[in-house]
Amino acid sequence: MPDTELSLTPREMLQAELNEIIGSLPDHALIPLKEIAESAYDIVNSGISEVTLQRIIQRIFVRSVNEFFTAEHVSMQMTQERLQRYRASTNPHQIQLPDTDAPVDISFDDVVRQRRSVRDYMATALSQEEFAAVLKRSFGKNGSEDGYGVRDIPLYPYPSMGGLSSFDVGIVVQNVDGIPQGYYRYDQVGHELESLITGDIRLALQDVTFESDWLLYAPFVVVLVHDANSFLWKYHTRGYRIAHIDVGAAMQSLYLASSSAGLGCCAVAGFLDEPINDLLGYNGLDKYVSLVIGVGKPATPLLSRQPH
Ligand SMILES: Cc1cc2nc3c(=O)[nH]c(=O)nc-3n(C[C@H](O)[C@H](O)[C@H](O)COP(=O)(O)O)c2cc1C
Repeated sequence: MPDTELSLTPREMLQAELNEIIGSLPDHALIPLKEIAESAYDIVNSGISEVTLQRIIQRIFVRSVNEFFTAEHVSMQMTQERLQRYRASTNPHQIQLPDTDAPVDISFDDVVRQRRSVRDYMATALSQEEFAAVLKRSFGKNGSEDGYGVRDIPLYPYPSMGGLSSFDVGIVVQNVDGIPQGYYRYDQVGHELESLITGDIRLALQDVTFESDWLLYAPFVVVLVHDANSFLWKYHTRGYRIAHIDVGAAMQSLYLASSSAGLGCCAVAGFLDEPINDLLGYNGLDKYVSLVIGVGKPATPLLSRQPH
């Protein structure tokens, strides 16, 4: 270590490190970096002495409201490119799912009362009808409205920010009658499955999740995939916070649809980001796994569970 460095205080050393990092970054990276520094400055200026990463992130979101007002004329028109994610896929190799819209004979009260996180599943395969019905009831298009200068923007069983539904629905099929094992995208408009990875990925999924051995036995696993490009054009940085509320609403939709169909599910936030994104093919920055949810027929009948 050079003598000059030995005489530096810890703060001076940190500043030197920061300068080195900043010096190596491209110009455009300095704008968000300045935002971070100013957020830290705001916290200190408000009289709070401890500046933590969580507080800086929250402060960034508070400041992000300004983007709405300072962003130069942003068009609210849906471009053809963006519109594609709200239209049925034209991929000829999709698997069409059965359209089972039979009404469920259970009261809303019972649906809510029975809704519990279920981690023990029966070992038998799930029928295609049961599988398709729970997907449709949780995530399938169930209405439409005109907006953003175009007709027929789909509506879904869950609410979402600006109706943009900021995530994709991925499905790991593990044990469903007549559907080959693999990883699919659920086409929420066409009610079809688009194949993304073929074959059995159950063990690979185990490697990238933790404390979730039970996922191995779920007939299928839903993967809610954050898609930043679906909302950044309208909601900018602040959309990042709100998008996770969309995922929560969709998760509850799956919980309730499962409960109403005599199935059970359990959310899993215990996964390793980079490995799971590598496994399922997402870049991990704009598109990444936000939540994983195992679904199956409960090994213990729901009605024998004791609600409190
Ligand atoms: C966002 C979220 C993440 C969760 N992650 C996990 C998880 O990684 N592993 C797990 O076993 N349960 C997980 N759960 C399930 C909770 O443990 C469960 O909802 C909670 O214990 C309440 O039980 P209940 O859902 O049966 O009412 C998660 C739930 C939510 C909402």
